[in-house]
Amino acid sequence: MQTLPASHETKVATPDHDVLDVVAQRWSPRAFADRPVEPEKIRRMLEAARWTMSSYNEQPWRYLVAARDRDPDAYERLLGCLTEGNQSWAQNAPVLMMSFYKTAFSGNDQPNRCAPHDVGAASAAMTLQATEMGLFVHQMAGIQPDVVRSTYDVPDGFEPMAGVAVGYLGDPEMLSDGQQASETEPRTRKSLDEFVFQGGWGEPSPLLKTA
Ligand SMILES: Cc1cc2nc3c(=O)[nH]c(=O)nc-3n(C[C@H](O)[C@H](O)[C@H](O)COP(=O)(O)O)c2cc1C
Repeated sequence: MQTLPASHETKVATPDHDVLDVVAQRWSPRAFADRPVEPEKIRRMLEAARWTMSSYNEQPWRYLVAARDRDPDAYERLLGCLTEGNQSWAQNAPVLMMSFYKTAFSGNDQPNRCAPHDVGAASAAMTLQATEMGLFVHQMAGIQPDVVRSTYDVPDGFEPMAGVAVGYLGDPEMLSDGQQASETEPRTRKSLDEFVFQGGWGEPSPLLKTA
């Protein structure tokens, strides 16, 4: 894994407990370098998604992918499925993806409550794999689901979930002022005791206390 340039050191997590380097160093940029992503790296990212755990091993995730240097038309089609705000910066990313989930189990057609969870897990695995390879990933809830459906003739039973921008880190100068600021702002998180409970809702777990 490559280390972040000094200008982006603020982006490295400041964890209270040791975590993997890829967890600490992953963050979601909006500035991407004008450098294509090697197809082998795209395949490795998708392979990491493939081997993600899922409820009943349903593997409800699906992905659309387009690399600008390989197929500019496919890339533009995918870019057009994002909200305008996200298009403004995601157009810097050399690779775009769109994630989907299948709403029902294939075996019995019963609703798969965990399908959105599982596509999120697959995208997280893909993201950490990307981080290990020196790439950056920025997921986007800001998509236009109706445009996605009509552009790709998405079959019934599949829901568009999130856009995904992928590439090498770029110079924040390419962004608008507001977007530039967030490229170097420190990343913040809730503390563990705000979301890990034991015994009752809101009761902090003694497991979180270090000796
Ligand atoms: C499912 C999902 C949807 C997101 N949607 C957007 C989005 O539409 N636009 C955007 O600029 N960032 C989006 N983000 C990025 C988050 O804002 C970002 O992950 C969060 O602020 C934490 O920052 P970090 O990823 O750099 O740690 C999204 C992230 C996720 C995981």
